[in-house]
Amino acid sequence: MPRYKQSSINEVSRRNNLVELVSGYVHLKRNGTSHIGLCPFHKEKTPSFHVDEDKQLYYCFGCGAGGNIFDFVMRAENLDFVDSLKFLAQRSGVTLEEEAGGRPGQSDEEAALRKRILEMNRAAARHFYENLSDPKAAVAREYIKRRGLDQKTVVKFGIGYAPDEWTDLLTAMEAKGYTPEELVTAGLAVKNDKGRIYDKFRNRLMFPIIDVRGNVVAFGGRTLGDDQAKYMNSPETPVFHKGRNLFSLNLAKQIGLKEGLILVEGYMDVISLYQRGITNAVAGLGTALTEDQARLIKRYASQVYVCYDGDEAGQKAAQKAITLLTETENIVKVVSFTGAKDPDEYILKKGAESFRTLLKEAHESIEYQLLRLRQRYDIYDLSQKISFLTEAAKVLAEIESEVAREAYIKRLSAETDITPEAIKAEILKLVYYKNKKQVTKEIYQSARPERLAGEETGFNQSQNTATYKTERTLLNLIFFHRRAWELAKEAVQPEWFSGEVHQRLFQAIMAYREKNEEVHAPDFLTELSDESVKKSAASLLYINFEGDSLQAAREAAGKLETEFLKKCAAKLAGEGKVKEANEIYRRINARRG
Ligand code: CTP
Ligand code: MN
Repeated sequence: MPRYKQSSINEVSRRNNLVELVSGYVHLKRNGTSHIGLCPFHKEKTPSFHVDEDKQLYYCFGCGAGGNIFDFVMRAENLDFVDSLKFLAQRSGVTLEEEAGGRPGQSDEEAALRKRILEMNRAAARHFYENLSDPKAAVAREYIKRRGLDQKTVVKFGIGYAPDEWTDLLTAMEAKGYTPEELVTAGLAVKNDKGRIYDKFRNRLMFPIIDVRGNVVAFGGRTLGDDQAKYMNSPETPVFHKGRNLFSLNLAKQIGLKEGLILVEGYMDVISLYQRGITNAVAGLGTALTEDQARLIKRYASQVYVCYDGDEAGQKAAQKAITLLTETENIVKVVSFTGAKDPDEYILKKGAESFRTLLKEAHESIEYQLLRLRQRYDIYDLSQKISFLTEAAKVLAEIESEVAREAYIKRLSAETDITPEAIKAEILKLVYYKNKKQVTKEIYQSARPERLAGEETGFNQSQNTATYKTERTLLNLIFFHRRAWELAKEAVQPEWFSGEVHQRLFQAIMAYREKNEEVHAPDFLTELSDESVKKSAASLLYINFEGDSLQAAREAAGKLETEFLKKCAAKLAGEGKVKEANEIYRRINARRG
């Protein structure tokens, strides 16, 4: 993949107007410097999506989506950065210039190999598909019919057939100019100890795995006989990393942002749902869900319905997937059903309407966790009831929203006949310990800034504290106002910011200011590579500040320094260094006076 010149990127950014572009997707109404409409990235009835024409930034006050014109195209069109750049370049007639030397870390040979493998995969997919109309494919056609799949579905998924032969694909591909060795590299053939090369997929129904850009990156094959391995997948190749792909994401991605994605276990579940009008299901590829896949879902889905098989193994896997999806900030719902072993069987037996009802009734994951606990304990036995409540309290302590927590408490109380106050007390105790741990960690980290450099802190700052808001204000002022920046150069320390994200953002802004005479928020965002830093920047740069910027920056900086000193003092006091702590308190008071 080529690497384009920064000047080209900036030109594309200048030549496209964000308001005009967004208007092609969303009906916008002007309101002061903002243009407002319904957010295209989440469902809403009242508009909270804002576009600032001067800044060329957008921000949704409902879901927090924000960024520059590239970020918008990446999300709205489901493209990666380079493709969104090309999209916008074409739209505005800019010719992109490549940097000499190409992308670091990827040589021309690697790029050529990837291209060749993708070509081979496409040719192989076509070959498998064409096999289906061969007289010898009767067994495959019979199987497809038995599984209830129609011709339209076969075409949509590019389903094909690998016959029970050793060199069916090899022969066809050699005729097209691909060598057996190349087929091995692509994972389409294997080489045995004696050096003989033969087809990897034999006597199987073939499912091409297609990435979001429409490349055939791999295959899954289901045996049509009684092979030990029911499914066989392509090995890892230069174009395929199974932990980073999801089956059918190419088909589901558009609808995923609006209606969410349904995560199922198997190829057949996805395909069977699709044929019956449920087109937003995706499947992992035969391994436990990975963190990359969870992030992929986050990128393409407004929420995710976990719909695994009903058996013990499926439910265990679901529990792990739910944890991972929750950790990657997905909104998780859990679909449970009875009377069928998997979603495929369910929809075959009960139909699409019934499946849609399951989606509507899907449990929020908190609810799901409580449900499972409830099944584990007999609450008519006093000691089990206590254990149940203790476990349930742990689940509820994780809920941020007071209102939601309150609602669950009420229900638990009715269910167990224990007063809401008692349950609440138990939960508050847990929340208290959790917060205490957090504060201790905060003090420790602020007081030892030298430990922060390059170290994963895993420290989540609470986003509602006054300090957090002061930090956001200060960062905004430093970015947009030269005099605030000059003040920061003199007097602000990175350690004053309470989390890694703000610290890094502070440093990035300072560096950007240093090398740019004029600031341009969209360009700055383009340069940020870390997703969380970028997200934070997109949201805080959207704020408009009115009033004396220098005065406001001074005040904000003063507050942050005081906070920082207090934490240092508390830390010293905690270590028994009372004299040193007092010295710092004296300094704080002197500053106030
Ligand atoms: N799988 C795999 N290798 C296996 C078995 C399963 O990679 N030996 C993966 C496949 O992606 C499969 C999924 O796990 O689609 C679910 O497996 P399973 O529930 O056993 O299969 P079903 O989807 O029910 O397949 P079928 O309905 O065709 O029997
Ligand atoms: Mn099945």
